[in-house]
Amino acid sequence: MRHLIDPMDLTVEEIDRLLKTGDDIIDHPEMYAHICEGKKLATLFYEPSTRTRLSFESAMLSLGGTVLGFSSASSSSATKGETIEDTARVVGCFADIIAMRHPKDGAPLVASQYSPVPIINGGDGGHQHPTQTLADMMSIHRIKGHLDNLTIGLCGDLKFGRTVHSLIAAMSRYENVHFILIAPEELRLPSYVKERFLDKNNIPYTEVECLDDVMPQLDILYMTRIQKERFASEEEYERLKDCYILDPQKLVSAKPDLCILHPLPRVNEITPEVDKDPRACYFKQVFFGKVIRMSLILNLLGLGTLDVNRPCKREKEPIKIDSMVCNNPHCITTIERGLPQMFTETEDHGVYRCAYCEAAQQK
Ligand code: CP
Repeated sequence: MRHLIDPMDLTVEEIDRLLKTGDDIIDHPEMYAHICEGKKLATLFYEPSTRTRLSFESAMLSLGGTVLGFSSASSSSATKGETIEDTARVVGCFADIIAMRHPKDGAPLVASQYSPVPIINGGDGGHQHPTQTLADMMSIHRIKGHLDNLTIGLCGDLKFGRTVHSLIAAMSRYENVHFILIAPEELRLPSYVKERFLDKNNIPYTEVECLDDVMPQLDILYMTRIQKERFASEEEYERLKDCYILDPQKLVSAKPDLCILHPLPRVNEITPEVDKDPRACYFKQVFFGKVIRMSLILNLLGLGTLDVNRPCKREKEPIKIDSMVCNNPHCITTIERGLPQMFTETEDHGVYRCAYCEAAQQK
């Protein structure tokens, strides 16, 4: 059985297969209309969502399957104190596949350790969002025609923006991809993303604060929302919330074939006037998100070409260290009863990363 928790759970070759199936779904939707008949998808969303939950549900319905689930923690037995472990075991009795979103980093990983059916991470806190990344890659594949030889500008909240973390992970494996990280000092990319995906693989990247300075270089501009819900201080959010606003004037210096993406929802970071620009691709991206989730669902159910028996090993096996407790307040270890504290060793002497949220700490 395969889960999708982290973008690196899929090889480049497997992503290519998912994209090819996505192309085929677009060309021949009728051939897929009954492929999941008799199968059920459960959507367990402990945090608000419009696109991810509804596109999963729409995807399953378009494959001939059925859906069940909840759209907020308050309507689930989480309010009575039920653990992720028990929830995964229980819902695995009702559904053939589960898509889960949770405000705590690492929650879907915990679910995958106990679920009898495949778990798909639909976004865990400020950590990862691998199916948004598949949507982004399907969009780049369809619009640009290739996933290599690209300069990708990622702009906004790179600290809490889980879509950015997952996209960097996945795209760092393609040839000649250069990342330009555009963020204020306070919202820079977390060190684990830089170390794990960029530094380790000698992937070129530049960190800047000014979008205008780099606009002419970009093939892809990936705008992101400043994630209000992840800030500890309202005051800091108010100070940073409008740090980047993309408007038609800013696009004057951009390439004519720039592809503007945004995982959505947007607040102020792209003005509505930009929607008319042919380079604005963020609503097409939503459509591609549904298509690639169709491809993912049928493949994880063993109805495509993905090898569902391939073991998905982490780069390093986590270990239990008695004296250490994860210090990240957003980590699933802070609320899941009975969950062992597990860590992986880094290349820096004495520094370990939590196996669930990847936050670093000294032994
Ligand atoms: N892109 C994305 O995750 O959107 P939702 O929060 O609406 O699911």
